[in-house]
Amino acid sequence: MSDFTRREMIGTSALALTVAAASPASGQVLPSPDSSPRRRVRLQRWRFHLGHAADVARDFGFGRDQRTFAKAGVAAEAAMPKFEDGAWTEVEVPHDWAVALPFADGPLVKGSDRGAAHGFKAIGRDFPQNSIGWYRTPIAITPADKGRRVWLEFDGVFRDALVFVNGYVAGRNESGYAPFRVEIDDFLDYDGGPNVVTVRADASLGEGWFYEGAGIYRHVDLVVAEPVHIPQWGTFARSELVPDGALVRASTEVINSSAEPAVALVSQHIFTPDGRLVPGRSESRLELGPGETRSFDQQWIVRTPQLWSLEQPQLYTLRNEVRLGGELADLTETHFGIRDIRFDAQRGFFLNGKPTKLLGTANHQDHAGVGAGIPDELHRWRVAQLQEMGSNAWRSAHNPPATALLDACDRMGMLMIVEQRYNSSDPESLSQLERIVRRDRNHPSVILWSLGNEEPHQASERGARINTELAAHVKRLDPTRPTTLAMDQGWDTGIGRVVDVLGFNYRTNQIEAYHSRHPEQPVYGSETGSTVATRGEYVNDKARHIVRAYDTEHPWWATTAEEWWTIAAERPYIAGGFVWTGFDYRGEPTPFDAMPSISSQFGILDTCGFPKDDFYYYRAWWRPDRPLVHLLPHWNWPGRKGKPIEVWVHGNAEEVELLLNGRSLGRKPMPRNRHLEWRVPYAPGKLEAVGYNGGQVVGRDVRETTGAPAAVQLLADARLPSPGACLILNAAVVDGRGRVVPTASNLLRFSAVGATIMGVGNGNPNSLEPDVASQRKAFNGFAQAIVRVADHRGLVDLSVSSAGLKPAMLRIAAV
Ligand code: GAL
Repeated sequence: MSDFTRREMIGTSALALTVAAASPASGQVLPSPDSSPRRRVRLQRWRFHLGHAADVARDFGFGRDQRTFAKAGVAAEAAMPKFEDGAWTEVEVPHDWAVALPFADGPLVKGSDRGAAHGFKAIGRDFPQNSIGWYRTPIAITPADKGRRVWLEFDGVFRDALVFVNGYVAGRNESGYAPFRVEIDDFLDYDGGPNVVTVRADASLGEGWFYEGAGIYRHVDLVVAEPVHIPQWGTFARSELVPDGALVRASTEVINSSAEPAVALVSQHIFTPDGRLVPGRSESRLELGPGETRSFDQQWIVRTPQLWSLEQPQLYTLRNEVRLGGELADLTETHFGIRDIRFDAQRGFFLNGKPTKLLGTANHQDHAGVGAGIPDELHRWRVAQLQEMGSNAWRSAHNPPATALLDACDRMGMLMIVEQRYNSSDPESLSQLERIVRRDRNHPSVILWSLGNEEPHQASERGARINTELAAHVKRLDPTRPTTLAMDQGWDTGIGRVVDVLGFNYRTNQIEAYHSRHPEQPVYGSETGSTVATRGEYVNDKARHIVRAYDTEHPWWATTAEEWWTIAAERPYIAGGFVWTGFDYRGEPTPFDAMPSISSQFGILDTCGFPKDDFYYYRAWWRPDRPLVHLLPHWNWPGRKGKPIEVWVHGNAEEVELLLNGRSLGRKPMPRNRHLEWRVPYAPGKLEAVGYNGGQVVGRDVRETTGAPAAVQLLADARLPSPGACLILNAAVVDGRGRVVPTASNLLRFSAVGATIMGVGNGNPNSLEPDVASQRKAFNGFAQAIVRVADHRGLVDLSVSSAGLKPAMLRIAAV
């Protein structure tokens, strides 16, 4: 099967001279990516120390006098290569220092949004001692690197980062979310001297109303390349389905950063998702003056493309080789997908021509134990939890996602809305937007560029002006995807008239009228539902900051899961919706907004990713092909004998029968997209729900009155992790018969040999226990540890113990 039956050269950019090679590449031996003269090293190990925003002595002398920036190369003691950092803590990046900070309460934060927004962590202006973070890492540079270009790629630092190399300020970046690049070759010692990168991050001020973490919470790479090379984000591969296959178009930039003119020959190859070289190649000859960047386009027709889809998220690879006088100067690979996306104002979203309702959730980058410093495996795990529920789309609120998350979405088949943080058109904001779009435009998972969220100027003419400019900027960089904005009012005016696809935050019941006024504009729910619930709790208790997990509680601006989904499911023109939120997150501790609530309760899953009951509502109706019966609440109600208990069933069986201790309490038809309810006088024992389709049993769920906690059970998400990988380790407290005790709160101690415990959590929004620890109380039966296995192959022993309970041990192997 040949993917490429015709290649053709299309017009070149104004400056590039491009030729297409006529012969197929059969028999040609290609250099392996390992032979690239380019070197990429992930900088994972750093030393870390808190600085001080108001005390120079505790900020390593930074800003000691008026002359901080007077002379190059001496800006801060801690930035000098010889600085002794042995007493600093060794940390692994991604790293979030805020997650390890104490909680702050008292007069300073009471009733202040500053405290609540960040989950009452003692960070921000009121806590100068906790708001500056210093990081140092040595980098390996050899004499052979002299004359080459060396730079650092930061995927995200929160925030206001100063990057020093050997005492020199090499770069600055204000945004806590936009990726940035820092050139460092001028500042290096190529003759064996130590070379040290230092980052000072200042998290005194925030960019969000939610927990934002602090520090180098996304990856950092060191890149060394020849002076003539493909710059960062210098390749843009896009595709379009055409009658005879797919049109693939690659725009490529090459820079000559040397002082001499250069003639570069760029050959391009495409590999299929299963790694076969597509016959044919293109070659482009570029004459580059000193310091010049040129770009050129190539296009191909792929006759039988292996499409990127939710079910088969297949990625093609574009390989670029740059040669100077026959010598390989650079080799890069860019992954992309061939797929077609389209928003239709009447029929919603289409992927590869197939109507695809967006079954989405909105999420912040935050997880129990690690905060914003989410390891790659955890990003993948979180995507997998949502996919288990049937979700196919993720809105990265309210900032661009980590590249690691986008890679996970590309490879796992999850659609993504990428959102910029700051909705304005000043040069800094435009630069942030540009970096985001250039970084993310090759990812097939990305379907929309969100310019912002509930902006104060959303309905105004000024808002329209600013966003007209932003949208135009986006289109210049990526003409293939629509723009959107999440609005909570004034949709008919302002930015609502500027963006291609309009997002409704809540107010799902107003979409219908809007749609009839603007039948030409595609619409979707950018924030939907927003049931608040405490996992495993079934009685509201204001004093304890507990909200029951029936699908009934929500803030005034929001709805239950059932309310929004019954509206959206029935209307094809609503492209879908993004539930606020998939996971609970620190900060915005709605609905209580005061200590000890430190995280929101909006999540369908808690901060650990343990599902609340609404998970099963969505799972039932988002995966209707897989029968499901889910019963709530638990059946441990001592002291409630004979008293009525509200019993719900989520599920998609046609009929459900409820039985208590073997006695039928009746069979009811399940209304589509809804749930069933009974009131059952409590009697300990066994409550059972049985689902029927056409009279046949298709599923059942049981809640039994359990005995007292007797043992702990452990479950790891991987049995054969690679060395250095992160693991998600879940612990459950069970009774003598192995049944999870739904109210257990035993203190669990995790330990590991051959691995490190990075952090722990239990999903309790009101827990003030430390996350960076190795013990945690179970919350309603469950707790979690995030573990990093050692860097070498070998056995890893993970165990959990608790006073009076039978411990559990799990042996896995890092291979
Ligand atoms: C929305 C906002 C979200 C979150 C949510 C809480 O207005 O966009 O970030 O704050 O409210 O309900």
